[in-house]
Amino acid sequence: MNSTEISHPKRLQDKVTIITGGGGGIGECAAELFGSHGAKVTVVDVNQDQAERVAKSIESAGGVALAISADVSQDDQVRDMVEATVSHFGRLDVIFNNAGIFPADDGGVLDTPLSTWDKVMEVNLKGVFLGTKYAVAKMLDSGGGSIVNVASFVALMGAATAQVAYTASKGGVLAFTREVAVEYARRGIRANSICPGPIETPLLAELLSDPERRNRRLVHIPIGRFGRAQEIANGALFLASDESSFMTGSQLVIDGGITAAYVTPQ
Ligand code: NAI
Repeated sequence: MNSTEISHPKRLQDKVTIITGGGGGIGECAAELFGSHGAKVTVVDVNQDQAERVAKSIESAGGVALAISADVSQDDQVRDMVEATVSHFGRLDVIFNNAGIFPADDGGVLDTPLSTWDKVMEVNLKGVFLGTKYAVAKMLDSGGGSIVNVASFVALMGAATAQVAYTASKGGVLAFTREVAVEYARRGIRANSICPGPIETPLLAELLSDPERRNRRLVHIPIGRFGRAQEIANGALFLASDESSFMTGSQLVIDGGITAAYVTPQ
């Protein structure tokens, strides 16, 4: 166990959970963590091999998993992923809408191609809408549930290193999640967002491999390092579980102190 894992008995026992983007990065870590806490996990990824690899890994550790290949921006594929989960496991309790993209040509307003803007909105925002839409219908049948959507700290602060499409999509996730939370609060469905700071996953690998771009970001993190996927998965586990039963329409910021800082320690 590493220092960021929480030692506690099964916190998601028998909860049927969908994790999108579960084939890598934060989603993979969350899938394994949720599985180890007794959840029945549908691992969804656009990359089928990755989804299968993670589902196998959960099963080899004694957990229960189903791998599904789906693109979260495609209405029929998201509908089918939810239907397949319910027909396999009998119900749906949790969806972790985690899949997201961060294209290299997303920049300032003058240079971001329209096609990039559209693609980012399709995956990062429409994907969250579709996952939520099909999950809510099943959660109403199950008597409630928890929706956990991944936004970002960039939804809360502006950066001179602009990625306008990504930032706007994540701001949309926050606003969308609040509205869903309020609409379904009296029907047992909670919806919250997570705002991760920069985390060392494949998503940021290219950016962080450039020492100058890496340091430009590192100086703004009071804790003095980038985050780990496990540190976001731990927050997702809390929001997915009944431990967060009085929390809805909120955002859990896990960012090493970035959004709290005006001047960082030297
Ligand atoms: P990652 O790139 O390491 O993993 C994302 C996974 O999602 C991959 O397995 C990929 O195949 C899958 N995926 C991509 N597009 C998909 C689609 N259309 N349908 C289904 N699956 C798809 O990314 P990471 O870092 O794990 O990010 C997860 C979430 O966290 C994303 O929403 C990202 O925007 C967000 N986030 C990440 C931060 C970071 O610094 N890594 C910071 C803030 C937010």
